[in-house]
Amino acid sequence: MNREDFNMLNNVIYLDNSATTLKPKLLSKAISDYYNNYSANAHRGDYDISLKVDSMYEKTRHLVREFINAKSTKEIVFTSGTTDAINKITNGFFKHYLKENDEVLITKSEHASNILPWFELSDTINIKVNYIPLDNDLKLTLENVKKVVTDKTKVISIAHITNVVGDIRPIKEIIEYAHKKDIIVLIDGAQSVGHMNIDVKDLDIDFMAFSAHKMCGPTGVGVLYGKEKLLENLHPTTVGGGMNSSFSSENIRIYNDLPHRLEAGTPNIAGVIGFGKIIEYLNNIGMNNINNYEIELRKYLTEKLKQIPEITIYNENSDSGIVTINYKDVFAQDLAIYLNKYNICVRAGNHCAKILKEELGIKNTCRISLYFYNNKEDIDALIKALENPNLKNEII
Ligand code: ALA
Repeated sequence: MNREDFNMLNNVIYLDNSATTLKPKLLSKAISDYYNNYSANAHRGDYDISLKVDSMYEKTRHLVREFINAKSTKEIVFTSGTTDAINKITNGFFKHYLKENDEVLITKSEHASNILPWFELSDTINIKVNYIPLDNDLKLTLENVKKVVTDKTKVISIAHITNVVGDIRPIKEIIEYAHKKDIIVLIDGAQSVGHMNIDVKDLDIDFMAFSAHKMCGPTGVGVLYGKEKLLENLHPTTVGGGMNSSFSSENIRIYNDLPHRLEAGTPNIAGVIGFGKIIEYLNNIGMNNINNYEIELRKYLTEKLKQIPEITIYNENSDSGIVTINYKDVFAQDLAIYLNKYNICVRAGNHCAKILKEELGIKNTCRISLYFYNNKEDIDALIKALENPNLKNEII
């Protein structure tokens, strides 16, 4: 789909979309338009180009609200990415909300951004970070959540789709159960928001974080979604210009309303405006079309991989465009370097999910991650390289 929109597809077979996606030409056009033609600051000027910036910047907020079906634009805070958003939630909200010995539940298949902020918080306020066990397919089930929830559990923080196993979590059921126990749920949407329809109201999500660059958008832009009543109690972790309406020499401060209170300093204006164009672009393609196409492509890929005896697939029963493999007796990184000779980009290593090895039983893997602009020819090229009888010799 839409391959002609992506310059880089002329040069590489790009199968590392979970790390970051490619960007369509319209993104750099929107960004350079801002820098060349109206590069004023946001929310500070009274002249035409500055007002244009305000309206373009806020238009993206409206588009994001609509895209995830949030109730209000007050619930959409721009950040620098998923990591920044989760850190703002842990330090700005949970640091004040949680009490000593309260428990946070995560899983061992989370990536660093949804583990390290909780470890840091546990050092600061002495909370406990516990793990929900995964099933034999490394998936998360409601039954397993129920097994570890206690009276002390106050937060469940989980990826919607994990970045190595690629399983789509049953978040609606988990959230419904959690809310009956007054547990707040944070969803890491980094791997899901650009790949499927997400309705935060229907799913009843409390907090969600995601990144623009994993959905064709610019790097350095992310979104912190939170229910308004929760965001009202999220303390700004960064303070400065743009987030206050007044302050005095006697230290009397009045901060702005949501969401501006949580966006101190000059934001990534060009990136946010570019992200707005990307949301319109994805809407035109249709998120359901993207999702269905990825499922079909994944099936094609796994069927072909299964015919290569040297390949182990670690997540055959997952449902997203993430397929994680190893080649018999070849170190994952060597395989990625070998594939690079054929202009094929995949990611090797532990993929920032550094404690998943305790569940997966192996530290390093090669990850193939798909997006809507990939096609069967990309997969055929990968399979041809993996079927090469000289593969091991070429690595040595
Ligand atoms: N979390 C990103 C990945 O999975 C960087 O590659």
